[in-house]
Amino acid sequence: MKPDRHVLYEASVQGVDYDLDFLERVYRRHHGRSFRRLREDFCGTAALAAAWVMRRPDHAVLRWARARRLPRMREAARRLALVHGDVRTVRVPRADLVCALNFSWWVFHERAELLRYLRAVRGGLRPGGMLIVNMFGGTEAMEKSVERRRFPASQSVDGERVPSFRYEWDQTLFNPVDHHLLCSIHFELPDGTRMRHAFRYDWRLWTLPEIRDAMADAGFRASEVYVEGWDDKANQSDEKFRLRRRFENQESWLAYVVGLT
Ligand SMILES: C[S@@+](CC[C@H](N)C(=O)[O-])C[C@H]1O[C@@H](n2cnc3c(N)ncnc32)[C@H](O)[C@@H]1O
Repeated sequence: MKPDRHVLYEASVQGVDYDLDFLERVYRRHHGRSFRRLREDFCGTAALAAAWVMRRPDHAVLRWARARRLPRMREAARRLALVHGDVRTVRVPRADLVCALNFSWWVFHERAELLRYLRAVRGGLRPGGMLIVNMFGGTEAMEKSVERRRFPASQSVDGERVPSFRYEWDQTLFNPVDHHLLCSIHFELPDGTRMRHAFRYDWRLWTLPEIRDAMADAGFRASEVYVEGWDDKANQSDEKFRLRRRFENQESWLAYVVGLT
């Protein structure tokens, strides 16, 4: 494909990284920090504004999403809005359903912080909206442990080959006094590459009654608990989550908690 005039223009007259370095340097010189909002007037192809958005270090994980997930979505990417903000304060359009999965909300160690989050969610729901969070528990959740699994080769979201690899879920600390839970994920590739602590989690292990009480205090009308079933014969989960009012505690269990408005 022949490059169009905009491509040639950018290649010949623009040096956005150089410009950005300069803008950051001057601003930092006066304010001791980088700027948070940039307006690029006469932006044309928006090369500089886009490069700045992509280089923000605190956007690392969203940058990954923009670079590797959105292009595969083509036009549909327009319907996905990525927001960089604190879930406790960010203003986003109201939603019918908010989800906080993979235990991410366990970053809140204090009940007041959890309540702030739940109230913000509650305020951001449309009539009839709901919040769905998940959590794990059981006797093994409250101790040091390592769980190893091997994952077969696969393909990443953008078509990259992912070799088979070893995964380790490592619970390194549990404090019964405040339920402080430190966990890490380690990876090991077939060529011997080890990524120790590829991801670290500094969490509070919340319990089902605690999150349900907090949801009630944050203004949710009711809450429901769906627990994954356990198949005794196969000695593994049956991968079905059923609405439960009671269940026998296990070494480990997974549950969704639904907050209704
Ligand atoms: C454990 S990852 C979850 C990834 C994926 N959504 C999942 O379900 O597996 C949690 C993400 O939330 C971000 N995060 C932590 N505290 C936050 C807050 N207060 N507001 C918004 N995002 C936050 C972290 O930077 C991290 O990228």
